Amino acid sequence: MNRAPHVTLSRTDVHLWIASSVGPDGEPRSLREHEAVLSPEERNRADQFYFMRDRAQFVMARSLLRRCLSQYVDIEPAQWEFEFNKYGKPAVHHRLGVDLDFNLSHSRGMCMLGVTRERPIGVDVEKRDARISLPDLIHQVMSEPEIDELRRLPARAWKSRFLDVWVFKEAYVKARGQGISLPLQDISFLFPDGRTPELVLKPSLADRPDNWIYDFIKVPADFHAAVCIGRRRSEALTLVIREPDQL
Ligand SMILES: CC(C)(COP(=O)(O)OP(=O)(O)OC[C@H]1O[C@@H](n2cnc3c(N)ncnc32)[C@H](O)[C@@H]1OP(=O)(O)O)[C@@H](O)C(=O)NCCC(=O)NCCS
Repeated sequence: MNRAPHVTLSRTDVHLWIASSVGPDGEPRSLREHEAVLSPEERNRADQFYFMRDRAQFVMARSLLRRCLSQYVDIEPAQWEFEFNKYGKPAVHHRLGVDLDFNLSHSRGMCMLGVTRERPIGVDVEKRDARISLPDLIHQVMSEPEIDELRRLPARAWKSRFLDVWVFKEAYVKARGQGISLPLQDISFLFPDGRTPELVLKPSLADRPDNWIYDFIKVPADFHAAVCIGRRRSEALTLVIREPDQL
């Protein structure tokens, strides 16, 4: 039996759903009810994870996606079908005739889903991990202006700034759907006042910064997260954080 959809999403709304695959005790949550809504291919993929925490994160992310999409459209969680662009970005399969866009990110038990209506979106969440090797990553990922800004900060602030830049950059390349095939060093997220990101793009991106709205997402202290959303002209968008526990 199908349920009536009960969450409204206008063309200028952006909904963010955030869930953890780890319980308050630090252990992976029970997955039985989440596995039940996965497709056979997704269950196969889940079975290939070696560590329980990685399996839990994958299952939680796919279950979050399916259950959240069913909040907007009268389709059961297990019935959603997806297709992928040539860079791997998933979208609702066109044969379902649904005008929702979404993007998923997961890191160390934290799962984040952004949903819009006919509007490109990218989200990224990363845990501030002691094992991140900054010297290598800075030169692979950051642009010259970003590195100049970083060097003006005290060394203790570098990892945090790197991760801020990283989540914005990932959110942007995921919104474009091309992931890290885009030239990361030609994209700059600068923080001229120390807090507010400003996107600067080189001509190689064939894009304009004012095509996008981007912002931090508030997450627990040891995580960094950002969202990037396409906008037409100078329209205003409404960003709402929603509670998956209410599903
Ligand atoms: C896939 C990619 C787009 C994001 O990867 P990521 O940051 O590791 O992973 P996230 O959890 O944020 O996103 C993964 C999800 O994005 C979606 N995705 C996959 N390809 C995508 C694309 N081209 N565009 C947008 N979204 C994409 C999928 O839903 C995927 O979920 P799945 O793995 O469960 O299928 C790509 O940029 C990538 O491979 N990045 C490398 C990551 C890296 O080097 N991290 C170092 C951080 S310090």
